[in-house]
Amino acid sequence: MVRSVQHDMLPQSAHDDVARQQFVVALKQGLSRTVRSTNKQLFEDVVAPDAASKIGKLPDDRDSIRTAMYAHPAYRSWSTLHRSAQELMWTSVADVVARDSERLQSQAAKLTQPAKQRGSLELDSTVQAPRGVANLDIHLQTGGYMLDRNPDDVAAGVLYEVGGNLYAFGQGLGKHDSKAAHVQRFLAEKFPQLKPKRILDMGCSAGSASVPYALEFPAAEVHAIDVAPGMLRYAHARAESLGARVHFHQRDAADTKFPDGYFDLIVSHNMMHEIPDSTRRGMLKETWRMLAPGGVGVHQDVPLQFKGLSEFQKFEFSWDTLNNNEPYWEVYASADLAADAKGAGIPDAQVYVGNLPQATQSLPWFVTVITKPAA
Ligand SMILES: C[S@@+](CC[C@H](N)C(=O)[O-])C[C@H]1O[C@@H](n2cnc3c(N)ncnc32)[C@H](O)[C@@H]1O
Repeated sequence: MVRSVQHDMLPQSAHDDVARQQFVVALKQGLSRTVRSTNKQLFEDVVAPDAASKIGKLPDDRDSIRTAMYAHPAYRSWSTLHRSAQELMWTSVADVVARDSERLQSQAAKLTQPAKQRGSLELDSTVQAPRGVANLDIHLQTGGYMLDRNPDDVAAGVLYEVGGNLYAFGQGLGKHDSKAAHVQRFLAEKFPQLKPKRILDMGCSAGSASVPYALEFPAAEVHAIDVAPGMLRYAHARAESLGARVHFHQRDAADTKFPDGYFDLIVSHNMMHEIPDSTRRGMLKETWRMLAPGGVGVHQDVPLQFKGLSEFQKFEFSWDTLNNNEPYWEVYASADLAADAKGAGIPDAQVYVGNLPQATQSLPWFVTVITKPAA
């Protein structure tokens, strides 16, 4: 597949790997866009009237809608195929990574030689991942974020970046939908005076957001944290290959160990929907504590929150919890982010919770923005 960012840590794919991946993307696009959009009509025209004739009322909350929909073979087929396509997507990458893993590990070692590296990597095996992150193949990703089979293992990061690209294209996201680029545009527009000296990216995964901040603000000291060691090793080598100076650390976003007021800019991308309530609240508290006077925090995430959604939309949204190993998907959807910020001690006037337009998606990203008043 053509990827937006080329670097020396990408796996080598053969023709047949690429063909298989292109097939999966086409299958996912068909299932998630074309077929999925007919599920509502199936519900309104067939499933709801059938259920009403049996139970005496229309299914009117997400649980009764779910029961009625799963009883229909057309919906069950769609759901099964949708899950299978997700599994196929990860295995189409996992096979390539397994074949190429030794080369990728030595490539990482070359890129991160102490004498040559611009940034750094600090691992700490005492850092605990939240339960639903530690023990789970999240969104069916082979081995999950915590995949770590040897002290040089980078597979978690390769899988996340390459599989993540297929995932995005399969949902119809284009290569111009970089989450960091959207946040950077937002910052330039709303906070043109912000020239951060120190930046933190929380839950950085493969570092695909950390690098754009380091390149946009080359004079800044950029730090990125995650709980997953295999992600961090990969992110470090990838950043070096792209000429970006980023300091990666294995740390918990709810207990970062950085000093008070250390950062002028703190960001996270697509992390909040994958962590428990307690981590999300801890992360907001840490953001407020670590922001310097005049600093800005932007936590960007998926657009869907339950507030304002119909019961059918809530049912549709919950598909990922049930079928795609996303234990915190609905936890996030039900969260009151403004209340969380208040609970973290952040004054109402310093918080904005709302939309951030995307380039090619009809739905905007969602952001929680925190500003620390200037001294
Ligand atoms: C969806 S990924 C984030 C994607 C990434 N920010 C990007 O832009 O590509 C979520 C990441 O959060 C990490 N994570 C989960 N809980 C965490 C915690 N308590 N502290 C730090 N990172 C955490 C996971 O290991 C995973 O790499």
